[in-house]
Amino acid sequence: MAVYDFAKGLVIEAGNNIRKMMQQDIDIETKSNPNDLVTNVDKATEDFIYNNIMENYPDHQFIGEEGHGRPMSEIEQKGMVWVIDPIDGTLNFVHQQENFAISIGIYNDGKPYAGFVYDVMRDILYHAKTGQGAFINEQPMKPLNNTVLNKSLIGINPNWLTKPTIGVIFKKVVDEARSCRAYGSAALEIINVAQGKLGAYITPRLQPWDFAGGLIILNEVGGKGTDLLGNPLVITQPHSVLVGNATIHEEILTKHLLTEKETLTALQKRHQ
Ligand code: IPD
Ligand code: CA
Ligand code: CA
Repeated sequence: MAVYDFAKGLVIEAGNNIRKMMQQDIDIETKSNPNDLVTNVDKATEDFIYNNIMENYPDHQFIGEEGHGRPMSEIEQKGMVWVIDPIDGTLNFVHQQENFAISIGIYNDGKPYAGFVYDVMRDILYHAKTGQGAFINEQPMKPLNNTVLNKSLIGINPNWLTKPTIGVIFKKVVDEARSCRAYGSAALEIINVAQGKLGAYITPRLQPWDFAGGLIILNEVGGKGTDLLGNPLVITQPHSVLVGNATIHEEILTKHLLTEKETLTALQKRHQ
């Protein structure tokens, strides 16, 4: 079976398991701070995906949020690399029991091979194999229309707007946009961009498992994703992220971000 078909079956099975586990009590722990949560379901889902891949493809590499696989900086850009977030949007999972996704990006010899974002409670699988178009379940996704900032909705987590430095930069983008939205799952924000529901999504820091799956799908419909200074997003390190249709991406980048290059470079260094 091709890796793509295997991954598609695996992500759907992992989603079925999540829906079953949600019928029992969920164990919630905190990670780096009281608002950074992880549950037994995040961990069991990553275990399930990891064990299945290792059984079928023992030579594949794996980067997972909940600790499976190798540290991202030690990944070799050779062969297949799976980048996995078992639940993207854990706060939504805990508080809303919906609006979360399983995200999988697969790279082959350092190049994007396939992306999967599974909106578990809506049972909608967004998926793409590079060069072969993107799909919502079995429905082809349309190529993205270009839009300008003042006629677009943009995705941004409002928490960033209260931060002293990045808040000032992001506020100018929000002020110029038609309005903004926050979905609480980076993978689903990127999917909203890929569907043209958002013109763009910006954030100062994501891990590769947050963006890998969505980015491959976005690229397939003609969207663009870089860091806040226009550099490519790679899966071996965290990044600031700007995704959008090609026109708005260029507009936000040149008008609002490259003009703040020194400040953004200093912020990025502080986060490394
Ligand atoms: C988080 C979500 C959230 C984004 C955070 C991520 P998690 O992932 O994608 O929308 O703002 O930066 O860490 O912790 O729910 O997997
Ligand atoms: Ca995540
Ligand atoms: Ca997660």
